Amino acid sequence: EKGGYKHFMLKEIYEQPRALADTIAGRLQSEEGNIYLEDFGLSDAQLAGLDKIFIIACGTSWHAGLVGKFYIEKLARIPVEIDIASEFRYRDPIVTDKSLTILISQSGETADTLAALREAKGKGGKSVCICNVVDSSIARESDGVIYTHAGPEIGVASTKAFTTQLVALYLLALKLGRSCGTLTADSCRDKVEDLLALPRKLEETLELDEQIEKIARDSMNARDFLYLGRGNQYPIALEGALKLKEISYIHAEGYPAGEMKHGPIALIDENLPVVVLVPQNNIYDKVVSNMEEVCARGGKVIAITSGEESGLQGKVDTLIQVPQTTDDLMPILTSIPMQLLAYHIAVLKGTDVDQPRNLAKSVTVE
Ligand code: F6R
Repeated sequence: EKGGYKHFMLKEIYEQPRALADTIAGRLQSEEGNIYLEDFGLSDAQLAGLDKIFIIACGTSWHAGLVGKFYIEKLARIPVEIDIASEFRYRDPIVTDKSLTILISQSGETADTLAALREAKGKGGKSVCICNVVDSSIARESDGVIYTHAGPEIGVASTKAFTTQLVALYLLALKLGRSCGTLTADSCRDKVEDLLALPRKLEETLELDEQIEKIARDSMNARDFLYLGRGNQYPIALEGALKLKEISYIHAEGYPAGEMKHGPIALIDENLPVVVLVPQNNIYDKVVSNMEEVCARGGKVIAITSGEESGLQGKVDTLIQVPQTTDDLMPILTSIPMQLLAYHIAVLKGTDVDQPRNLAKSVTVE
């Protein structure tokens, strides 16, 4: 059942190229340059009248939502508020009939996310969920569903569900962009082309496994880890820290790189591994300068960059290079080293990777 892998988590990490391809398949209407989502439930006219979007989720799914906010605001130019479900449901959110609430839940059974959906619906808002389990409670109660086709996720730490949620959010942002008139048919087609090229790049990214295992050996005895990123890589920093905490029990924090000097910089010494997400994009120089601040204080930098010529060779202790893709899709690729690093550290520490202490796969209590 683990298909020759030592753990479900590793199997599921390696299933991601397939899971991504399945989530994209059949969803582009080539001729019209539109996105087709089979159980979407809302008409283009309904979408064109939206003035606000809420994204609601818990845990890893919330991290996907943080990236989704970048996608939707960029491609559809609709303001997005993102909330953790247990916060949203008690804050009397300003939901109207022009609001769309997007619930993200792998299991479709998370109690707080379900309650948030009921809260939004009760206020007259429209709803759509991104879900991996067919006919789950959240899928049944939402006006529409976008299923991720990740297949069953057994490992408690979410991996393939997360990256397929990012794909689903991107497809949704493209669909919204087309219905709101902010995206041309050609541009939509081009962006789907970029998506279609991603599974192959993800396969290449998985070839970093051996290098990352070595990095895990070098850093497994650290007491704390810091993860830094900016823009759409900040949620990936949060996700990297969460993965490490959950399965290796090492304390880790994700931070926006630009916030470091406002406090966490005090933590940096030669015992602190600092994972810096620094792919080549328009804020690359800013992140490099944050990284140099870490180096100057003796922090042990593990830099994740993209492409061959990032200019970081020889400048940092450890450099991991993922393939180049568009800025929008880069979080999907940089997630992979986050997953593998946490996985290998946990294996080396001998923890129960698939079934970490105190955690449940589906949180059906508040
Ligand atoms: C982390 C993890 C959890 C879930 C969270 C929400 O690896 O799996 O943080 O993401 O409990 O679960 P779903 O997505 O099923 O609502």
